[in-house]
Amino acid sequence: MIKSQKKILIATRSKGKFPEIVSKLKGLPFEFLNLNDVGNLPQDYEVDEPAMTFEGNAIIKAMTFGKKTGFIVLTDDSGLEVDALDGRPGVYSARYVSGTDEDRNRELLKELKDVPDHQRGAQFRCVIALYDPQDEKIRTCNGVCRGRIVREPKGENGFGYDPIFYSEELGKTTAEMGLEEKNSISHRGKALEKAYRILEDEFLN
Ligand code: IMP
Repeated sequence: MIKSQKKILIATRSKGKFPEIVSKLKGLPFEFLNLNDVGNLPQDYEVDEPAMTFEGNAIIKAMTFGKKTGFIVLTDDSGLEVDALDGRPGVYSARYVSGTDEDRNRELLKELKDVPDHQRGAQFRCVIALYDPQDEKIRTCNGVCRGRIVREPKGENGFGYDPIFYSEELGKTTAEMGLEEKNSISHRGKALEKAYRILEDEFLN
């Protein structure tokens, strides 16, 4: 008998995160579902993110979606930590100021207007949570990507703070990178390399 492929729900509404996640995990024998593939969830269903840490929020989201849908779930909680702002916006990256990604980038550049180049260090941080509701197994892993905040947005790719985040390693902003290029150096790419191994070892048997 042919065994049907295991399903994993990539529980994010972010149009930017989903393709980065699937691109990195596509070698695993899972069927990748997005939130629209799940029949019993209302279209606009959101999980609150009340925790003060990326890990806390990633776990809350994974367990909530897992218990609601019955699928193995992967969630990503991530954000930008700016040295000169003592790590802000951090877990508040998505809701730092209301409006669009462009509004948030503009606000951040305004706040950093007088900060000299050598003090514009920043990092993206990502925590991935993996949850299997069948046996209540929960695992997390993380990744960090160092860079600095430029003075003018540059690049059209990616999402969020990508146009203002410059990677010294590749000599461009993450918005100037293709998806696989960004995945090779990014916080999410690094966390997903760890998630790949955990899924292979602990979630596929
Ligand atoms: P979350 O969906 O609550 O985890 O919020 C993540 C927020 O952090 C996003 O809305 C972006 O503003 C920011 N962020 C996380 N990862 C990235 C990235 O890879 N590029 C640019 N911005 C990111």
